[in-house]
Amino acid sequence: MTEFSSRVEQVSISGIREVFEAAGEDAINLGLGQPDFPTPDHAREAAVDAIRSGKVDAYTSNKGTRELREAIAAKHDRDNDLEVDPEDVIATSGGSEALHIALEAHVNEGEEVVFPDPGFVSYDALTHLAGGTPNPVGLREDLTMDPATVEDAITEDTAAFVVNSPANPTGAVQSPEDMREFARIASDHDVLCISDEVYEHQVFEGEHRSPAEFDDTGNVVVVNACSKAYSMTGWRLGWVTGSNERIERMLRVHQYAQACASAPAQYAAEAALTGPQEPVAEMREAFEERRDVLLAGFEEMGLECPTPKGAFYAMPKVPEGWVEEVIDRGVVVVPGDAFGENGDGYARISYATDLETLKEAIDVMAEATAAVRE
Ligand SMILES: Cc1ncc(COP(=O)(O)O)c(C=O)c1O
Repeated sequence: MTEFSSRVEQVSISGIREVFEAAGEDAINLGLGQPDFPTPDHAREAAVDAIRSGKVDAYTSNKGTRELREAIAAKHDRDNDLEVDPEDVIATSGGSEALHIALEAHVNEGEEVVFPDPGFVSYDALTHLAGGTPNPVGLREDLTMDPATVEDAITEDTAAFVVNSPANPTGAVQSPEDMREFARIASDHDVLCISDEVYEHQVFEGEHRSPAEFDDTGNVVVVNACSKAYSMTGWRLGWVTGSNERIERMLRVHQYAQACASAPAQYAAEAALTGPQEPVAEMREAFEERRDVLLAGFEEMGLECPTPKGAFYAMPKVPEGWVEEVIDRGVVVVPGDAFGENGDGYARISYATDLETLKEAIDVMAEATAAVRE
C-alpha cells in the first residue's frame, strides 16, 4: 500500500473549492477571495517588456531582483513608515509561499502555532505541513483577535502566532493598540509573530498598522503580496520581510522549494509597487460602497453582521440551513466552519463582485433567509 506522510494526511483540499463545485455554472459567486478588477496596465506592460527583452529567461537571484526588493523596501517606507533593508526581503510565489517558508523555518515537530479561528485556511494546513500543532483561538464579538487571548494561549511549546489584519474571512481590522500588544507579546515570550498583511490597502475605517512598527527584538515577520493590493492573484508574487537571521533561514526553504519567484511576475510587481497607486484607491472605494450595500441588505434581512472594516469579506451570523439554502438558490457563499470551528453559525460573503450582481445576490439571500425562517 502507498504510504503518505502523516503531515500531508492531516491536510485536506480547502472546503471552499467544494462549495464552488456544488453550485451550478450560472451561480453568482460570492465565494471568491480575489478582487474583480484588472491588473493595472503599467504592471502588465512591465511584464510584457521584460519578456520581450529576454531578461526573464534566466533565474533571478534567489531572493528576487535587487530592483524589486528595493521597490518593496520603498513601499514599506511609504506605506508603513518601516525601514526595511532590501537584503531582508524574499520575493515569493504569492503570500502563500511566504507563509509557508515562515512556518517551515521556525516551527519544530510538535511545536504550536496560534492563529485566529475563524481564520484564513492556510494557517492550519501550513502548520500541519511544517509538522507543528495548530492552536486556533476564538475572537472577540467584533471578530478581532484579542492579544490577551493570544498571550493566554502561548505555552513553552509555542513557536509562532499569526496576526491577520485586515482579516480573511472576517474583514476585521486590529487597532494600533492591539498591534503594539502583539509586538510586545512576541518580545516578552520570545515567540515569532507572523503578520499577514495582504489586505493592508483595503481598510475603510481606522488605519492599517503593522506589529513590525512596534518591534524592537526582531520577532515580527511580515508577509505581504501584490495579489489583493493590485488585483494580481494570478501573477503569484508576494514577499516576506524580517530580521536578517530569519530571512537567511527562510531563504534556505525558498531556495530549494522555489529557486526564485517567477521573473515576469517580479517585473510586474516592481511596476505595480513603484507606479501610480490610484488603482489601489479605486478598488478600496468600490469595495467600501459594496460593503455598505451588503450591510444594509443584512440589516433588512435581520441578519447580525459585525461591521467589516477592511478586506472584501463580511461574516454575518446565519440561521441553521442558511448557507445550503442560499447555494441552492444559486449564490455561492462559504460556510463559516470552513475557516475553523468557531466559524460555525456564520457565513463568509466575498463582495469582490460588481454592484449590480451583488444586489441580485442580496435579493436571493433575502429570499433564502425568509425561507429558512419559515
Ligand atoms: C489572509 C490571506 N493571506 C494570504 C493569502 C495568500 O495570498 P496569495 O494569493 O498572495 O498567495 C490569502 C489569499 O486568499 C489570504 O486571504
